[in-house]
Amino acid sequence: MKTPGNILFTTEQIQQRVSELSQHIEKDYAGLDPVMLVILKGSFYFASDLTKSMDMPLALDFIATGHNPSGALEVIRRPLNSLKGRHVLLIEDIIDSGLTLGFMLNFLQEQEPADIAICTLLDNPARRLVQLPLRYTGFQVPDVFVVGYGLDFEENYRHLPCICEYSYPQPK
Ligand code: IMP
Ligand code: MG
Repeated sequence: MKTPGNILFTTEQIQQRVSELSQHIEKDYAGLDPVMLVILKGSFYFASDLTKSMDMPLALDFIATGHNPSGALEVIRRPLNSLKGRHVLLIEDIIDSGLTLGFMLNFLQEQEPADIAICTLLDNPARRLVQLPLRYTGFQVPDVFVVGYGLDFEENYRHLPCICEYSYPQPK
């Protein structure tokens, strides 16, 4: 499939890294019956590949944020499971400024989980404003806009099997 920029990670590289993370998490969370909290929409392929081979009890739930009319972040889709006393692993596609995840952590803390950890496929540390404890990271990326494997540009390119740079079209 035609990509809108240079490929940063091929399907094979992604599958290899996701499999490593999956084994790591499976070991760390054995016996804890964790809630894998998938951040919509960008993390859906990642969360699917990450959890599919885990041979242990776990719950999958979903959360999404959006912006209200005045531009403030808000949770537009809440988890359906109670998180009280649960071991929650947040599954994110990419962390950039960290503002979204920082906001989400505050929201989730109110539900009194046993603990919350973060697993992100991509980490773009260049523009971080909110420091976050990342327990699991797939890859660090340079400060470019990336698409594919769930990540979008204006809702397109989520379905690319690789992760690539989005090169903005040059004005003619
Ligand atoms: P943050 O609040 O600045 O950390 O932004 C996090 C969210 O912005 C991610 O969950 C993505 O949905 C989106 N985002 C940030 N960088 C990129 C990118 O390079 N490609 C696609 N989406 C991105
Ligand atoms: Mg996202």
